[in-house]
Amino acid sequence: MRRTRISEILKSDAVGTHVTVAGWVRTRRDSKGGFSFIEINDGSALQGLQIVADQDLSNYRSHVLKLQTGCSVTVEGTLVPSPGTGQTVELKADTIQVLGWADPESYPLQKKRHSFEFLRGVAHLRPRTNTFGAVARVRNAAAFAIHRFFQEKGFLYIHTPILTGSDCEGAGEMFRVTTLDPASVPLKNGRADYSQDFFGGPSHLTVSGQLEAEIYALAMGDVYTFGPTFRAENSNTSRHLAEFWMIEPEMAFCDLEGNVALAVEFLKYVFAHVLEHCVEDMAFFNRFIDKSVIQTLENLVKQEFTTLTYTEGVKLLEKANVKFEFPIAWGSDIQSEHERYLCEKVFNGPVVLIDYPKDIKAFYMKMNDDGKTVRAMDVLVPRIGEIIGGSQREDGYDILHSRITQMGFDPNDYWWYLELRKFGSVPHSGFGLGFERLIQFMTGLSNIRDVIPFPRTPGNIAF
Ligand code: 4AD
Ligand code: MG
Repeated sequence: MRRTRISEILKSDAVGTHVTVAGWVRTRRDSKGGFSFIEINDGSALQGLQIVADQDLSNYRSHVLKLQTGCSVTVEGTLVPSPGTGQTVELKADTIQVLGWADPESYPLQKKRHSFEFLRGVAHLRPRTNTFGAVARVRNAAAFAIHRFFQEKGFLYIHTPILTGSDCEGAGEMFRVTTLDPASVPLKNGRADYSQDFFGGPSHLTVSGQLEAEIYALAMGDVYTFGPTFRAENSNTSRHLAEFWMIEPEMAFCDLEGNVALAVEFLKYVFAHVLEHCVEDMAFFNRFIDKSVIQTLENLVKQEFTTLTYTEGVKLLEKANVKFEFPIAWGSDIQSEHERYLCEKVFNGPVVLIDYPKDIKAFYMKMNDDGKTVRAMDVLVPRIGEIIGGSQREDGYDILHSRITQMGFDPNDYWWYLELRKFGSVPHSGFGLGFERLIQFMTGLSNIRDVIPFPRTPGNIAF
């Protein structure tokens, strides 16, 4: 069977051609004139194809009249101009073959609109809905645009490990990986003896590919990673996942200013690509999810991003005439309510915040001359807050060594990272974009669990 995707049919002027299509039934309407309209969707496009099934079909009574939402079919016939509204062509069926039935009593996806919460419980079926089909296509387009952006610029795609012995962010929010039997863990001095574990030492799922990306940047120049990352933060928010995808470019011979410029150009490129290639899906999000989403992205493609220092940002927040849940003062962490205030109320657009206090950022960020702040940068956007986190990296051996010690880590654990500062060290910078935060921002969906096929969050590992 060679089938034609519905997306191809919708793109071409296919009237008169004979095709075979296959998909899942969304609706069936029977007309008094002795024929039925069946809308099928095959996932290739938001829009489905209308099938016209005449009562002369041999299995009209036995099968066609029993088709319900969720059944799978193949249809062979001729494309004809559609007199109805909503589509230009429809398929006049010569044969309809039912591949699989779906009992309407138990099939969870009925014609009505379901809540996102309900759909999370049926993650094996939710890609068949308009919203989740559109999310999957936007994710695909964005991932392609990301690779294209870096490839066009000559960045090398580096595959960094998922299993790791080091903690990149130094935040300790890591999932342990072990093959030790929890019922009989070998002990040494009363504690688990990981020297007897699979890797001969403690190992975890990575929180970031940055440290390994730095190794390659300090040999190849410009590199990027795009892979899964894991965080055992117990934060049940609409913006956190335990497993998410991160894109991490790393550039040698590049300072913070170059890093900010790349981040801005990168975001604009991805937004423009998705606006151009996902017209129908973006129109859907704009209509049903967030009426400002297209305008926001179009503005961002043209808009300047405001860059200001953490210190300037905090001054604006202290002056703000609103009561924040978390009070703000120099030195305290910027919460998403503060990030959103700056984007939504002060600058009405994206903001790049740089030069954060050293104590609230990771050990690897380059120290400023003031000895108090580091060359960090966060890109903040309306509605989401932080979408990108990055920095210029500390390239001085002695400073990095003392930062690691000050933060209470063992420099021996980072010996290779330190050695990069001993042999041919160069200024270098990079950042991490959370892929799901990006998709959340582009689609307007309010919960991050709805922009990844199978969300992993505290207490939830189904599917
Ligand atoms: O700011 P983060 O923690 O930065 C790093 O991991 C650096 N090593 C990146 C680098 O410089 N190469 O994380 C980067 C981004 C955040 O801005 C956010 O978009 C996303 O990753 N992120 C999460 N997304 C979903 N769920 C979570 N739990 C996330 N934690 C971070
Ligand atoms: Mg961050």
